Amino acid sequence: MPKSKSVYICQECGQTYPKWVGQCYQCGQWNSLVEETTTKKNTEVNLDDFTKNLVQFSQAEAVKGDKKRVSTTIREFDRVLSGENSTMGMVEGAVMLIGGEPGIGKSTILTQVVIGLLSDSFVRKKPDAKSRVLYVSGEENPDQISLRINRILNIEQKNTFKEMSAFFENNLSFVTSIQVEVVCEAIKKIKPMVVIVDSIQTLKSISLTGASGSIGQIRESAEQLTEIAKSTKTPMFLVGHVTKEGQIAGPKVLEHIVDTVIELNGERTSNLRFMRTVKNRFGPTDEVGVFKMTQAGFESVDNPSELFLADREADVPGSSTVCIIEGTRPLLVEVQALVTPSRLAMPRRVGRGVELSRIQILAAVLEKHCKLPLSERDIFLSAAGGFTIKEPAVDLGLAVAIASSLKNKKIPQNMLFIGEIGLLGEIRPVVGFEKREKEAKKLGFERVISKKSHKRVEEVLRDLGL
Ligand code: TYD
Ligand code: MG
Repeated sequence: MPKSKSVYICQECGQTYPKWVGQCYQCGQWNSLVEETTTKKNTEVNLDDFTKNLVQFSQAEAVKGDKKRVSTTIREFDRVLSGENSTMGMVEGAVMLIGGEPGIGKSTILTQVVIGLLSDSFVRKKPDAKSRVLYVSGEENPDQISLRINRILNIEQKNTFKEMSAFFENNLSFVTSIQVEVVCEAIKKIKPMVVIVDSIQTLKSISLTGASGSIGQIRESAEQLTEIAKSTKTPMFLVGHVTKEGQIAGPKVLEHIVDTVIELNGERTSNLRFMRTVKNRFGPTDEVGVFKMTQAGFESVDNPSELFLADREADVPGSSTVCIIEGTRPLLVEVQALVTPSRLAMPRRVGRGVELSRIQILAAVLEKHCKLPLSERDIFLSAAGGFTIKEPAVDLGLAVAIASSLKNKKIPQNMLFIGEIGLLGEIRPVVGFEKREKEAKKLGFERVISKKSHKRVEEVLRDLGL
């Protein structure tokens, strides 16, 4: 029998086992064993070329490094990766994990990156050697992906479709093996400008016995791929599935290995998609990219505020407009309230995209300081566009919406509300006020109601006739 090349190591105490067991005998932890390889590649440290490991600080080098970004050709995607920079996009050798629920569009957006990069090379007449893209297709078969690419190309580039497809045929290669060693070899041979791995959970290493998708396999595959990405300076996207709890499966280990963790989310029923970075070694972690899902895949949304406000119901009580800040970008969002008589001893407080504790506090403040009879009424609050609004800055807008629904009196559409409400009914300043005010002006809101104009929430309601 060949000697086993892997061992199972308890992640809690480090005890090793030749076979998997449910509970670690050493520390008693359940389900803590993860398979790892025993044949580590460099078992001896070579101290002769020690100086090779010392690199002096160099300002010029750092600047040059930032210049080496390559655009994904999708503007919102670039923004999320690098922020609003002079050079935007992927850093060479960066490993980017993209996570999201099934069907949210991970494969779609990466296919679009492939199309964008190849089209760009085609237009600029780059030589084939510099235009290659490698797509590791563990999830779908190459025909499926090719079909999708052809469809999107046909929509976008009808005129040059023929020549373009020929160029794609020369430069786009698929790896159908799920063996991570094969993938690494392909990267070394082909030297692509970008690698897409869809998905990391389908890969496995020959040095481990576990099935694809087990923590050990995911970690080992990711480590091998990262090593290759760094040594060949190839940017790489890894698709990662998300578990029911909303975490990227093959948990934190994967997030530690990669440079950037990108989350793609949005409500499946709406065609809006949001892209955020949870971790980003080469850029901000607070940018948000907004997309619309269309026939031809994702479309960057230039001015999200306009989009969110477009379907506002005019002349209906219970609606107000607030400004949230997503990343560095102010977004105007409509909030809606519905206040109805309650038949329950304990009236309902329900929020969609609004925290329950916030509704309770606002209801109490409005009851106490504005004398609104809310204790016998159900309150439903919702943020339009599938947003989750957590910032205190939306308090004032929510409070006004509640009062508006209760009194059945509408709020003028040209007003924007910015302000946190304290427990004493006072309006408090918020961070990024100027930015929010500017966005409001830009979109034609004539009146901004905030701490500047009013000191207390009851004054605001009085002025609105509520
Ligand atoms: P997909 O990228 O396969 O999701 P994931 O890889 O995250 O599981 O997205 C599938 C959904 O996207 C599917 O419901 C169809 C839709 N879609 C479009 O609306 N337009 C398009 O151009 C494409 C390619 C997909
Ligand atoms: Mg997919």
